[in-house]
Amino acid sequence: MAPHCRYSCDTAAQTLEWISAINDFLRPYMFLLNDHVVNFFKDRLWESIDKQWMNCLRKESVENLLKIPSGIVQDNWPASLKEFILTSRSLVLPREQVELQMMLPNLHVASLDTVLTQGMNMKKKHEVETLAAVVRSIAESTGSQTIIDVGAGQGYLAQVLSFQYNLSVVAIDASSHHGAVTSARAERIKKHYAAKTKNAHLNVPQTVTCCVMSSDALKAFSDALLQKNDFEPLEMKEIDLGEPYLEGLEVERKKPSLCSNSNMGPSLVLAGLHACGDLSVTMLRTFIECKEIKAVVSIGCCYNLLSEEGSQNSGSQCGFPVSEGAKLSGLSLGKSARDLACQSAERWRSLTKDAALQNFELHAFRAAFQMDLKTVMKIGGGHEAGGLYYLDGGGSLVALWSFLSPLQWHYGLGYPSLKALKFLVLLLSHLSTLECELC
Ligand SMILES: C[S@@+](CC[C@H](N)C(=O)[O-])C[C@H]1O[C@@H](n2cnc3c(N)ncnc32)[C@H](O)[C@@H]1O
Repeated sequence: MAPHCRYSCDTAAQTLEWISAINDFLRPYMFLLNDHVVNFFKDRLWESIDKQWMNCLRKESVENLLKIPSGIVQDNWPASLKEFILTSRSLVLPREQVELQMMLPNLHVASLDTVLTQGMNMKKKHEVETLAAVVRSIAESTGSQTIIDVGAGQGYLAQVLSFQYNLSVVAIDASSHHGAVTSARAERIKKHYAAKTKNAHLNVPQTVTCCVMSSDALKAFSDALLQKNDFEPLEMKEIDLGEPYLEGLEVERKKPSLCSNSNMGPSLVLAGLHACGDLSVTMLRTFIECKEIKAVVSIGCCYNLLSEEGSQNSGSQCGFPVSEGAKLSGLSLGKSARDLACQSAERWRSLTKDAALQNFELHAFRAAFQMDLKTVMKIGGGHEAGGLYYLDGGGSLVALWSFLSPLQWHYGLGYPSLKALKFLVLLLSHLSTLECELC
């Protein structure tokens, strides 16, 4: 049985007590947490782990190993190992799903028109369908007229909010390529809806290419939106985002319908689906600083990309930790630990034995590759047969699967971008999309 959590976030003092307990628990293991999983193999990190623990875990079945993150221990394990696992489980922050309908009584999740879901996999469709309904419900209850989709990517969320819910939306993304895809996709969808509804005046998301680097920049952008009238195009030149943010800016204008004639004065909602690293934190900070922003609806992502004090990419306002309390408690994690924190115990537990073994193997092979690259020594020649690459020579037979799926390559090589993956694995040079749930 997984242990019951004895901590709570009901008050600031209780939250700090929880953070402090996490900090105390992690401190002795920072030498492990600060390393990438590949280093566990490459740098023989297992040698620094309790010998009794290793002796026991080496003999354990894969199925039982997969249950460790869920806090499930075996009776015959050393007491210190059991205590470590149970304490770690008791400190886990809650991840239970809330009952949306209870929180948002006016929520209605409409099923999406197929023209809107083109290009989405099942996971993305589910996320966009639900999140768009949540954003619409919150926009309605806060009387907000405009939604800024921050880190909009190819505009999936923005387009559903515009076409399905008839909201006024601005889609911001740092990538001009994504901006162009969003605009082209929106035009296609508009044609479909115009023909279906015989309405030529449809809401189309406005696409803006802009790298949001601070809450001041997002605030300036929001202020500029709020000052505009209906149908007035947004001129990025007029927005003072500061020098660093203006580089490479280009704006495509679609029909902007930014402020309605609401009695409450213009107001905005910030929305983000998988807004990477610091971008989600910037949204929260902007929400706190700008009273016209009535709500923020954000699903964070890529916590390994957050800036952290003392790390190479830390700036004046770091993305982690966000809270002053956590900062004062001295909480410091590092890139690899934040990456690890995103792993889900439920997911490990539900893996099949074969899938888990393949996962472990990929890390081991990647470590072997990395050692090879470092020494620039060839480990030997090989040949392919029956779907396996065989390493020639040597005593024991060593083989690596040659039929890896694009996602298996992507995970095994440490989540490179699609461009980098195509460069690294020639077999994948034809690949046009990569639907990674983690990136
Ligand atoms: C993981 S993708 C999510 C895209 C989209 N929201 C979705 O769920 O399909 C994150 C997006 O945020 C954009 N992005 C990352 N940092 C940004 C920044 N500082 N300013 C603007 N966009 C950014 C990236 O270009 C990328 O398109």
